[in-house]
Amino acid sequence: MKIMVIQGPNINMLGLRETAIYGPMKMEEIHEQMKLAASQNNVEIEFFQSNYEGEIVDKIQECLGVFDGIIINAAAYTHTSVAIRDAIASVNLPAIEVHISNVYRREEFRQKSLIAPVCAGTVTGFGAFSYHLALMGIIQICDHIKKIQSKA
Ligand code: DQA
Repeated sequence: MKIMVIQGPNINMLGLRETAIYGPMKMEEIHEQMKLAASQNNVEIEFFQSNYEGEIVDKIQECLGVFDGIIINAAAYTHTSVAIRDAIASVNLPAIEVHISNVYRREEFRQKSLIAPVCAGTVTGFGAFSYHLALMGIIQICDHIKKIQSKA
């Protein structure tokens, strides 16, 4: 099983950025923890971060035929990007939307996700642990899909 983790704009600033909201962990530290959890579950995992919408669209498209599932924190693009939403819908791979903060208790503009309707699920508000929960969730979903495909 191969999982792609896509990090959107300013996620590379974790650890420095608004730590009262996003906590002290750096993105690289989150990735190290995810790598460990992935290897314990026999899962291959790769990471990609970009501050550019088009690069995120390209990366989602590249996942087709290579990865079984996507974990994505589209960050601010969550609330604005029809292009990222369409890319997720196009590849038709299971995706989990992740947020460190609980976007539903923040500003009104963060309470709308354009990508939620094309994702299998959303994890929001658990701090850096949101990524771990998303990883466990996508493994479950991909396992389920593989079982169904092997019976067909
Ligand atoms: C975020 C929430 C977004 O509203 C914000 O723009 C981010 C981070 C989160 O992980 O809590 O950059 O996606």
